[in-house]
Amino acid sequence: MAGRILITGGTGYIGSHTAVVLTQSGHDIVLYDNLSSSSDVILDALKEITGKPIPFVKGDVRDADRLVHTLKSHKIDAVMHFAGLKAVGESVEKPLEYFTNNIQGAISLLNALQTQSINTFIFSSSATVYGEPEYLPFDEEHPTNALNPYGRSKKHVEEILQDIASSNPALRIACLRYFNPVGAHESRLIGEIPKGNPNNLMPSIAQVAMGDREELCVFGDDYPTSDGTGVRDYIHVMDLAEGHAASLTFLESNTGWHAFNLGSGTGYSVMELIHAFEKEANCTIPYRITERLAGDIAEYYSNPDKAAKLLGWKTKRNLKKMCASTWKKTKLTLYSSDTISQK
Ligand code: NAD
Ligand code: UD1
Repeated sequence: MAGRILITGGTGYIGSHTAVVLTQSGHDIVLYDNLSSSSDVILDALKEITGKPIPFVKGDVRDADRLVHTLKSHKIDAVMHFAGLKAVGESVEKPLEYFTNNIQGAISLLNALQTQSINTFIFSSSATVYGEPEYLPFDEEHPTNALNPYGRSKKHVEEILQDIASSNPALRIACLRYFNPVGAHESRLIGEIPKGNPNNLMPSIAQVAMGDREELCVFGDDYPTSDGTGVRDYIHVMDLAEGHAASLTFLESNTGWHAFNLGSGTGYSVMELIHAFEKEANCTIPYRITERLAGDIAEYYSNPDKAAKLLGWKTKRNLKKMCASTWKKTKLTLYSSDTISQK
């Protein structure tokens, strides 16, 4: 088993769920985060879920000295790199901020790893690297043609990783291309905490269910899909977290650069998600059909066969579970300003 693992972005949404899965499967982990989009309150939640305190270092991945010190003092053997900015719209407005954080951050981290001869690296990539589908479902051979600065930051880091893996045969690198992560840990203690106005579908539906928004805007109902609304491949964040543990095991016996889709392989439409959520929350979600979103893609879903074959991993949690866990977490957030103390 890989020794001690550093999780950058470890107090964020996906990093914190992965921290639970890794700790519960016996790994030693250290979280590293600058807390720019998360809070260290998560550390109490993680302790409560796993029964152990999890070491945490407050730091930025662009801070080379802090990184090297952390890698040395915690005797790190492998790194999962979640830290980064992730809002597509914001990346169009502030591309340099995205390139600095996501690309410069990754380069800084990779340099630090090189100084310590740490060879195992798992990168949070995104299905967004594929861009407009040339065929569906997307397999890992599909050309990558990201359409916005966020997507390009992921594509560039993937390419950097490919180049360094070609230059150093000892490296073991996995780029995990996530489809649409949703849901929360069953404890309700951790989950996505959207900042400001979430634009993604699941948090928007949850806000309408909570009464924070009057209605949901459905962006177009004239796509060439089963009911005319956009189709996506939603994946429960705990399945995603388990995909990281499976990738780590895979890298123990495989060198080189590897890309994997992490998705369920099934697409659901906006209307299907609304109806599934209504059932779990026992409510009606008022909605209005609006114009298509500029640049939006009709259908986006994975072929997850490579991960099934090489990682021995596939998703286990269905749409009902994704909606139920989102709703449970949302209700807790609604009734408590301190999401940790109340259960
Ligand atoms: P998140 O915002 O919840 O977590 C990211 C974490 O990184 C935050 O805790 C933030 O404080 C930290 N961070 C940001 N910049 C940092 C820096 N320079 N140094 C140190 N820490 C920094 O996001 P998430 O949803 O957990 O996403 C994790 C990763 O997965 C990101 O790289 C994201 O691009 C990628 N991803 C997310 C999705 C999604 O829909 N959530 C989809 C595909 C890929
Ligand atoms: C977006 C990002 C993608 C990111 C993903 C998960 C873009 C272009 N892509 O993708 O990079 O990885 O989120 O975070 O932004 N919808 C509505 N009403 C809403 C919100 C969404 O109808 O209020 C529809 C969308 O048109 C789409 C579907 O719901 O058909 C899913 O939208 P969303 O959750 O934003 O995810 P993506 O568009 O896949």
